[in-house]
Amino acid sequence: MTDTDRTHDVVLWGATGVAGRFVAEYLTERYAPEDLSLAVGGRSPDRLDSLVDELTRRSDAWDDVPVVVGDATDPESLRAIARDARVVCTTVGPYTTYGSPLVEACVEAGTDYCDLTGEVNWVRETVDRFHEAAVDAEARIVHSCGFDSVPADIGTLLVQSFAAETFDAHCETVRIYLEGGSGSVSGGTLASFVALFDAAADDPLAREAIRNPYSLAPAGERSGVDPGEQRFPRRDALRSAWTAPSPMASVNERVIRRSNALLGYPWSREFRCSEVVTTGTGPRGAAAAGLVAGGLGLFKTAMSVGPVRSALSRYVFPEPGEGPTRAEAEAGSFEIRVIGRGTAPDGSFTVEAEFGADRDPGYGATARMLGESAVCLARDDVDSPLDGGVLTPASGIGLPLAERLREVGFTASVGEAAEGGR
Ligand SMILES: NC(=O)c1ccc[n+]([C@@H]2O[C@H](COP(=O)([O-])OP(=O)(O)OC[C@H]3O[C@@H](n4cnc5c(N)ncnc54)[C@H](OP(=O)(O)O)[C@@H]3O)[C@@H](O)[C@H]2O)c1
Repeated sequence: MTDTDRTHDVVLWGATGVAGRFVAEYLTERYAPEDLSLAVGGRSPDRLDSLVDELTRRSDAWDDVPVVVGDATDPESLRAIARDARVVCTTVGPYTTYGSPLVEACVEAGTDYCDLTGEVNWVRETVDRFHEAAVDAEARIVHSCGFDSVPADIGTLLVQSFAAETFDAHCETVRIYLEGGSGSVSGGTLASFVALFDAAADDPLAREAIRNPYSLAPAGERSGVDPGEQRFPRRDALRSAWTAPSPMASVNERVIRRSNALLGYPWSREFRCSEVVTTGTGPRGAAAAGLVAGGLGLFKTAMSVGPVRSALSRYVFPEPGEGPTRAEAEAGSFEIRVIGRGTAPDGSFTVEAEFGADRDPGYGATARMLGESAVCLARDDVDSPLDGGVLTPASGIGLPLAERLREVGFTASVGEAAEGGR
């Protein structure tokens, strides 16, 4: 099948969910129908119709938005959707529960794909099951195109590309600092945490994916020098501040290591990366680091206990479908600093990138990151040597994504760190 046979540039699958709705609003506000042939998809025709009513009411450009209906548990409906799209962009989660049949359908149809998953156990499953077939089919399956893991993965690519151009060398280490921001969490995201911990309880492969820092690397390359996530508060010499473990490090670090591997190790096999939360200086910074580390440890311990996990899921967490309002999604912010250090023939260097946006990282900003990832794939606006495979944002799309995000108000800057500053 040629691309011209496909009716839609992008099918947004899961458009009636919390994240999906924000992506649909973003894409119909940013692009006109003549620029982007978009369809919204889901399992409920009624919910899709009311979404389309809302989208067309908000927009001068869109009189209608085509709808595709199917169910994640009906593989034939997914095959039909995949055959008719250049790109399927999906927010149907938990991906551990619903994701694999859609990836399989996209690989079969040679259709590009992007999603929002942060479930490393499931990414490992798709790597093992679909990578080779996706390479053969030239289907780009790009996972983790939201707050997990675009800022960390593309931020790392920014510092590495700058180091290559400026110093003709790579950064041996990259450290990612979550420096500030505010945001919210939806029922669907919490359901995905539950799915990940359920998988870890039942499946040794899922436990290995969570435990091994190189679990998302290609088979045969799943070991290396990087010890993995920081587990305790630590005073950081580069930032002259206290740092705590990052809740997203277990995803983002593995995604970055996979980017390095898929690109053929341009940053060497000894490359190390880490992601932490910066909590400030002095005793207050130390206390905050202790609180963040303790809170995260407590959450993980509680989620590891089956009955506690199901009680939290049933009585405490919001239901799937519940999440921030549009005003809340537009109100938050995030700021990430990426510091890379390397050695050139005439001495060591430090490169620094900033990545951020004035929107809720998981929703308002994620809608832009995922929406623009889909547009990059649909227009083949990518800078990547890879035509297919189970990919990452940096390896499958690359710097054109940073460029597009800058155009919609993101900070994505990079330069040499001030002398003596680091
Ligand atoms: N990486 C990030 O930064 C980030 C940020 C936000 C969200 N996420 C992830 O994105 C995913 C979605 O989150 P959310 O808050 O939007 O969840 P949500 O509101 O529960 O939405 C889930 C979507 O999946 C659809 N769905 C459920 N079962 C289905 C089935 N059998 N067939 C077809 N569609 C089905 C739902 O359809 P109905 O509307 O018909 O129920 C809904 O559209 C989660 O995995 C979450 O972790 C990641």
